[in-house]
Amino acid sequence: MNQFISTHPAKSNNTQTGRADGFETVLLGPGIGAQIKGIQVGDSLNVQELAFVRQALNDHSVIILRDQDITPFQQTNFAKQLGDLRVSFYNRYAVPDQPELSVVSNIKKDGVAIGIEDAGMLWHTDASYLKTPDMYTVLYGIEIPHREGKVLGNTLFTSSWGAYDALSNAMKAKIAHLRAKHSFIDHLAKKAKVGNLKRAPLTEKQKAELPDVDHPIVRKHPFNGRPCLFVTEGHTSEVVGMPRQESDELLHQLWEQLINPVFIYAHSWRKGDLIVWDNCAVHHLAVFDYGDIPRKLHRAGMIGPVPVGI
Ligand code: OGA
Ligand code: MN
Repeated sequence: MNQFISTHPAKSNNTQTGRADGFETVLLGPGIGAQIKGIQVGDSLNVQELAFVRQALNDHSVIILRDQDITPFQQTNFAKQLGDLRVSFYNRYAVPDQPELSVVSNIKKDGVAIGIEDAGMLWHTDASYLKTPDMYTVLYGIEIPHREGKVLGNTLFTSSWGAYDALSNAMKAKIAHLRAKHSFIDHLAKKAKVGNLKRAPLTEKQKAELPDVDHPIVRKHPFNGRPCLFVTEGHTSEVVGMPRQESDELLHQLWEQLINPVFIYAHSWRKGDLIVWDNCAVHHLAVFDYGDIPRKLHRAGMIGPVPVGI
């Protein structure tokens, strides 16, 4: 896992901008979300570029590189420089010859979906239903929907460390050592309930490969040590060892905390945006306001460590 470790200790996260070696970060959101200027992703980042990207990711949790013109191979290569890639079990949406890259899209070809149609429909962090959730996700904008000049299909990010920090001391003490169950099976049921499930039911084999897991409710960030809230609307189904009603109330309270606009950065996409987010430090949500207007992105996810409590 040491491929993730930044070469520099985490700095205070309040820097509005940072500069080094001709690169620059500009903070776009509330502590999270920074645009990196001065780096063009090609076949490989050099040592200085990679160190700068890792540092910015560690400091700002979501990084945005704009105006990138890259091939699927180059995206995979960039992502591999940040960590070990996971081959998604939904590999029927893999980009040809790039098994680690999946298509996220509402586009249909001959009536058949070309990509995952419902990615990010509920607030979540990627692959939290696995023992080793995704550390980072790399999403690249290829076709971005617009209506009357307005960009549609934003992705929202909320700071799981900002939301944790703002909890009362009593709540922090209450949840310090609790664990919660994350379930892909329950997740599909939740999506079906909101009426937006656009996936074939899991086969028995897939179900057997996706058993429920439990994780700490407060997770210590593996590289900068920040405590991060780790209960998601999408995948967390219950607090381990707590009566159901009490568990539901607590989870709702924590979800409310996480979706307070003061912790949110809303990304308005442009074709050529390459975004990397840290799934421990932020939760995310896709906004489905574009109907059939085409939207297409390519995504890669990196296998992270087993989450550790505080
Ligand atoms: C994802 C995801 C959000 C979006 O790919 O993991 O949640 O806006 N996507 O497409
Ligand atoms: Mn996601």
